[in-house]
Amino acid sequence: MTEECVDFLEVAKKRRSVYHFDPDKELENDLLKKIINLAVLAPSSYNMQPWRIIAVKSQEKRQEVYDRACSQQKVLDAPVLLIILGDKEGYKRKNPIWDEKIRLGKLNEDKVRKVIRRNDKSKQDPTKATAFAVRNSSLLAMSIMLTAQRFGVNTHPMIGFNAAETRKLFDLGENFEVTMMISAGYFDQNKELKSRETRFEYDDIVEEY
Ligand SMILES: Cc1cc2nc3c(=O)[nH]c(=O)nc-3n(C[C@H](O)[C@H](O)[C@H](O)COP(=O)(O)O)c2cc1C
Repeated sequence: MTEECVDFLEVAKKRRSVYHFDPDKELENDLLKKIINLAVLAPSSYNMQPWRIIAVKSQEKRQEVYDRACSQQKVLDAPVLLIILGDKEGYKRKNPIWDEKIRLGKLNEDKVRKVIRRNDKSKQDPTKATAFAVRNSSLLAMSIMLTAQRFGVNTHPMIGFNAAETRKLFDLGENFEVTMMISAGYFDQNKELKSRETRFEYDDIVEEY
């Protein structure tokens, strides 16, 4: 755990929300899989991983999303659009992670039942159910963007879309929150990358006690 990942500094500095993607440069499926399979190392509540991803690759389908995503050009230009979903019911007993916890002796069936019952209760409040889904899946989204950058793949996160229409388009259940969309591909080198805007730093945002 004490090993230094020098490379991360570069990844963090280089990641940008890229506006212009090269529409002629494909994102190879093997690389996309590699990115996702590393990004899922993101932490989640009870390791429940209450998330799903829709990878929209076809131009036709991306056009349909574009119509529901404020006509954001990057949805059409980037070869892959990832739709990050948070599952409000991801903590339920059918999640195989519970079985793993029992198998490993971390929890027993009785304890699992109690934890799920507690979650069922708190998630009757829709705000809490949504927060559970969005908090967890947002961490996955960030992990995807940083991992993509590690492999030279550019991204752009978006929440400018009609969630209800998107849910309808992909026939998603009510348990899913459409957390974010991420365009992924390669920056169009013929375009100019906007300079990064100011970031608030430690003294601006941290209150010490
Ligand atoms: C949750 C979230 C939603 C965003 N939604 C949009 C969006 O709908 N459209 C857009 O052009 N940019 C969107 N952005 C990109 C931000 O504008 C961008 O991250 C910010 O200006 C900082 O720039 P940087 O990512 O290049 O450092 C979003 C970013 C985040 C984190």
